[in-house]
Amino acid sequence: MRHLMNPLDFTVEELDKLFRLAQDIEKNPGKYAHACDGRILATCFYEPSTRTRLSFESAMIRLGGKVIGFSDAASSSASKGESVSDTIRVISAYADICAMRHPKEGAPMVAAERSGIPVINAGDGGHYHPTQTLTDLLTIYNLKGKLDGYTIGLCGDLKFGRTVHSLINALVRYPNIRFVFISPEELRVPDYIIEMLKDKNIPYEEVIRLEEVMPQLDLLYMTRVQKERFFNEEDYIRLKDFYILNTSKLEVAKSDMLILHPLPRVNEISVEVDDDPRAVYFKQAQYGVYVRMALILTLLQITV
Ligand code: CP
Repeated sequence: MRHLMNPLDFTVEELDKLFRLAQDIEKNPGKYAHACDGRILATCFYEPSTRTRLSFESAMIRLGGKVIGFSDAASSSASKGESVSDTIRVISAYADICAMRHPKEGAPMVAAERSGIPVINAGDGGHYHPTQTLTDLLTIYNLKGKLDGYTIGLCGDLKFGRTVHSLINALVRYPNIRFVFISPEELRVPDYIIEMLKDKNIPYEEVIRLEEVMPQLDLLYMTRVQKERFFNEEDYIRLKDFYILNTSKLEVAKSDMLILHPLPRVNEISVEVDDDPRAVYFKQAQYGVYVRMALILTLLQITV
């Protein structure tokens, strides 16, 4: 039995196979419409979500399966003090696969150790969000045709943004990737990631101003400031609008640069940017369904 906790749980070759499966699912949905007949997905979300939970549910339903779960810790027995370990032991008797989001780093790993079914980390605190990374990689792969040879700018909350940490970890395995980290001093990418890049001799630079690096970027990954991870409301208010991408800032960007965002967006991308052909974040959310369909099939070892 296999779980997904970290984007590195799949080799580059396995990811390539997963993306080709996701592409086939997009092209031939009817072929997969009954692949999960009789199977049940449990979505255990101890933290709010729109895209991740609903795209998992949509994925299982499109595969012919059914969905159970909760979208709020308060409506589960966690509110009475039940542990994640006990919850997953029970859910293992009710479902065939589980997607879990939790505010505590490592909680889905604890669940996986006690689980009788595959567990997918759907986001654990400020740590990792591997299925968002699969979505991000599929988006780049589909729209650019390859995953190597990019200068990627990651902009915003690089300290608490779990999608950023997961994506960096995944991209370092592809050749000729260069990172440009764009953040205020307080929201810099964590030291453990900088140490990992140094160990692997991966080029990176850290800057505060987005405008000064825009012309060199092939990919721009915008993120919101993660209000829910701040200890201090004043700090959040001071930093929340530090970056606002608008059409005038994009004038110096490459004509084929992709603008990605895991969403939800708050103020960091003006809505006027949505009409720019380089803005692909809504397409990205759509690819999240196909890649989660491919992931469910892979973890349940179902071939069509
Ligand atoms: N990208 C993402 O994780 O969105 P949700 O929080 O809405 O699931």
